[in-house]
Amino acid sequence: MSAPVSVKDYENSAREKLPKSVWDYYSSGANNEQTLSDNCNAFSRYRLRPHVLNDVSKVNLGSSVLGTPIDFPVCIASTAMNKMAHPTGEIAVVKAAESMKIGYMQSTWATTSVEDITAAAPGAIRWLQLYIYKNREVTKQLVQRAERLGYQGIFLTVDTPILGKRYKDVKNNFSLPSHLSLENFKALDLKELHTVDGENGSGLAQMVAALIDPSLQWSDIAWLKTITSMPIVLKGIITGEMAKRAVKENVAGILVSNHGARQLDGVPATIDALREIVQAVDGKCEVYLDGGVRNGTDVIKAIAFGAKAVFIGRPVLWGLAHNGQEGVRHVLKMLREEFKTALQLMGCTSIEEL
Ligand SMILES: Cc1cc2nc3c(=O)[nH]c(=O)nc-3n(C[C@H](O)[C@H](O)[C@H](O)COP(=O)(O)O)c2cc1C
Repeated sequence: MSAPVSVKDYENSAREKLPKSVWDYYSSGANNEQTLSDNCNAFSRYRLRPHVLNDVSKVNLGSSVLGTPIDFPVCIASTAMNKMAHPTGEIAVVKAAESMKIGYMQSTWATTSVEDITAAAPGAIRWLQLYIYKNREVTKQLVQRAERLGYQGIFLTVDTPILGKRYKDVKNNFSLPSHLSLENFKALDLKELHTVDGENGSGLAQMVAALIDPSLQWSDIAWLKTITSMPIVLKGIITGEMAKRAVKENVAGILVSNHGARQLDGVPATIDALREIVQAVDGKCEVYLDGGVRNGTDVIKAIAFGAKAVFIGRPVLWGLAHNGQEGVRHVLKMLREEFKTALQLMGCTSIEEL
């Protein structure tokens, strides 16, 4: 295979390299994967309207998330269990993010602990993606460890009271390989993740059912605020109605996301939902987007509709599977270059002009 030049090339490489059950876990969506294909296809339904004869010899690609500057408006979304893609796992990803001066959102279910991530990339912009456990003490300890380590925000996932049905994971009896563990919770008994009885679907679905709190509700955001002073972003809002409700809780931001189409199949593509949500929040908090971002013009479209930044999930895993940190870094560099080219061809010199 010749050297990859696009996210698509990295995806093809990952499909060849990864064991089938891992490829299926990373790539698949919920149920009939209607939203999965829509997330990407929806971007191509929007057309760009460039300005011409505007001096674009100098451009500024920078943006910020929660007040922290980033070099270009693409950050890394939380994806669970990165060591299945490459032995260096999350460490490779956070180092790539650090070197590109963009933000890294660590999954609660990382195969590397918050302590080891911080030690590997102390200068990285780090946020913690949070699942709230039935055991609030476990949740509190993780949040407070992250805060002490200099994490700069919480992305609270609100679309996963239970795990969506992912047919391929059920068929493969998907479970975490026994040599790996969810390092943030070494003390917890997580045997559910390694053993699959075939009754309730994948090992992951069983773990979520056993440990994650399905009774989570709006009032819990107030509780979260009592245990941390980090800003809180709600990850997984997909309608204007819920965005308005989030604003009432004084959250710092909303990540328009359908969890990479892995939860409720049939919800809108994120780029289709974005404008309604930007209107609904009316500048009262920051808005970001993830889902289906695969090239520079996708980033342009999301920013033009009012996102401060986009996040990418699978493209990072494809780079990681190809060749670790270098692969992730190259994926980010490609997106940066594609975004810069598209911005100039749009006749803009900064994201504000979009
Ligand atoms: C393999 C995989 C694992 C994921 N794990 C998590 C997770 O642990 N927590 C979470 O909030 N979202 C998780 N997500 C969702 C991502 O954070 C993000 O919303 C999604 O991947 C964005 O879509 P994209 O993959 O099309 O870029 C996961 C997504 C994938 C593909």
